[in-house]
Order: sequence, then C-alpha cells, then structure tokens
Amino acid sequence: MTLTRIYRFAASHRLHTSVFSDDKNAEIFGKCNNPYGHGHDYVLQVSVEGAPDPLTGRILPVADLDRYVQRQAVSVYDHSDLNRDVPGFEGVPTTENLGRDVLRRLQTDWPFAEVRLTRVAIQETDRNSIAIDKG
Ligand code: NI
Repeated sequence: MTLTRIYRFAASHRLHTSVFSDDKNAEIFGKCNNPYGHGHDYVLQVSVEGAPDPLTGRILPVADLDRYVQRQAVSVYDHSDLNRDVPGFEGVPTTENLGRDVLRRLQTDWPFAEVRLTRVAIQETDRNSIAIDKG
C-alpha cells in the first residue's frame, strides 16, 4: 500500500550553466535564464510503501515522516536560493535536479525500517512537474 504526503516550499532559482555561453543559456533556458532569478511555490509529494500496522492502521507515524521530510528537505529549500544555498545540490537547479536532490536527502538516514520510499514528485508550475520512481 502507498501513502503520499504533500509539502510546500518557496524558493528562487536561475537556470544557467557556466558550461555554455550567455547566448546559449538564453536559448536553452529562455526566461528562466533571467540574471536576477525568479521564485516558485513548489509542491512536493513524498510516497512511501508498506503494510499498515494492525493496531494503528497506519503505514508509519505520519508526524514522524513529516518531521523527517521537514528536516531533511523542506527546511533546507524553503526561502532559499537554489543556486547558492543548498549544500550538495548538483547541476542546474531545474525541477528534475531538485527532484534528485530531494531523493538524495530523503535517502540519507531514512529512519523507517519497514517502510520504503518509493516516489518523489515535484510540481513547479501549473505546467511543469516531475516524478522519480524508485523501481
Ligand atoms: Ni523557474
């Protein structure tokens, strides 16, 4: 059975890489390459899989999951500049790479022994979202 929790955070970014020229960056990333950056209200979905406990009827203590996701991910990103403020973030701060970073952070010290982290999904705008399924 799968349980999904939803979290929100606001962050800014600029899509740009020093690998390419300014013209090439503008061509690839369009408005998102604006030098002063811009913000998004991100919606993060975290899905876990496991069997409900017979006594509680829950896959895991939801408050514990919320605390963990808050500590490992949401508090790191919220009101941050994704280009500068997130230790260990690799690559251009696209939604795709943000998803990878969330997964990396959640896998580190995962504390729920009988429960598997199966999916991370992020909605950046009405028209743009990603999902990473962990096979
Ligand atoms: Ni953007």
